[in-house]
Amino acid sequence: MEKSKNKLKSQKTKQGAGFDSITSRDSFDKEIKVLPHTLPIYTTSTFIYESPEIAQQIFGRKIDGFAYSRFSHPNAQLVEEKLEKMETFGLDIKAKALVFSTGMTAISNLFQSLLRPGDCIIAQGNIYGTSVDYFSHFTEVYKMEVVYADFKNLNELEDLLKSRKNVKLLYAETPSNPTISCYDLGALGKLAAKYKVKFAVDSTFASPYLQQPLKYGADFVIHSATKYLNGHGTALGGILVGRDYEFMNKNVWKVRKISGGICSAFDSWQLNNGMKTLSLRMDKHSANSLAVAKYLQSHPAVKEVHYLGLKDHPDHSLAKRQMKNFGGVLAFDLKNGYKAGYKLMKKIKFCHLTASLGTIDTLVQHPASMSHSFVSKEQREKYGITEGLVRMSVGIENVEDIIGDLEQALK
Ligand SMILES: Cc1ncc(COP(=O)(O)O)c(C=O)c1O
Repeated sequence: MEKSKNKLKSQKTKQGAGFDSITSRDSFDKEIKVLPHTLPIYTTSTFIYESPEIAQQIFGRKIDGFAYSRFSHPNAQLVEEKLEKMETFGLDIKAKALVFSTGMTAISNLFQSLLRPGDCIIAQGNIYGTSVDYFSHFTEVYKMEVVYADFKNLNELEDLLKSRKNVKLLYAETPSNPTISCYDLGALGKLAAKYKVKFAVDSTFASPYLQQPLKYGADFVIHSATKYLNGHGTALGGILVGRDYEFMNKNVWKVRKISGGICSAFDSWQLNNGMKTLSLRMDKHSANSLAVAKYLQSHPAVKEVHYLGLKDHPDHSLAKRQMKNFGGVLAFDLKNGYKAGYKLMKKIKFCHLTASLGTIDTLVQHPASMSHSFVSKEQREKYGITEGLVRMSVGIENVEDIIGDLEQALK
């Protein structure tokens, strides 16, 4: 024992540190001269401060710098800087973006930052199901109210805004799920401004390449970055972009910091990789979707096709005005209802049977037996979610392979 102690001691003398100190520490005493082509993944929970003075300023947010990865880290910051530029591209607006662990975290951090007991949210009737679940939970716990309205009926919406003095937030989602409707952001933005309420838009289905809600008066833009922004189905993520820089940088930043909702370095890194090809993917998704939609329109088993790019879609001209292209999600209604929808899910081979969207490969689901099976039939019918409705997130594969799969599955 005595002998080995002496051995370690002598090693310490030679190397300047004890054995365990060598293995347990990363050496920063030599400058590492590397210029990585892409931003590496910063898998570090914390950051070393050059001095107590600098630490004090970083913690006080007086200077830029990283304090602790729950507050911010280089991979998150890179994604945020890109999102700020993307959502304000060509606009004279200085927005602030924050990246979260999921789309739902982006929404919940916005609510925690903005809303207080007694407030009312007016939300579009047909939004993502978990958003509805979250709104019910949040408003019940914090003694608020949520009112759902048809955002196509602007007169009814204005009456609601006029009659309630406690409305704080107008919440829209466009294009919306699963019947792919498009809502008039300009008209909604004007109403929000007239009644001095904040206006948030979930723009997940469009991505920042196809639609910029800030241009139409939105105060907040939300994305489930799990979808088109990542594009490869490899990670979860969420984005909130706000027009009020101070509010985002102080209030929302603080809620994210104290609640721990930031996107991890690895997931932010994957998100950044995905975003590099966003415009290429969105144009290919759109072109493939139009071809699939046209094929489905001509198929005898199909009653109706919902795709914004089709000239006879009721929202086609609005979508053309508001969006750069029509996106990658479509839905179609099968003549033989539930049975036909279920049978199609059994027969598809090339397309994947799964409920997500926005990946480079084609994903198909049957809302009546899957995502909306817990919603009553009456409520489903109210929002056009018929028994035979099938939703497709059309990928960027060779479109003949997608159509070929539908052809064999619809036989
Ligand atoms: C329109 C929309 N918003 C928000 C979300 C929630 O995103 P996440 O699953 O990343 O929390 C989803 C998820 O499917 C969505 O489709």
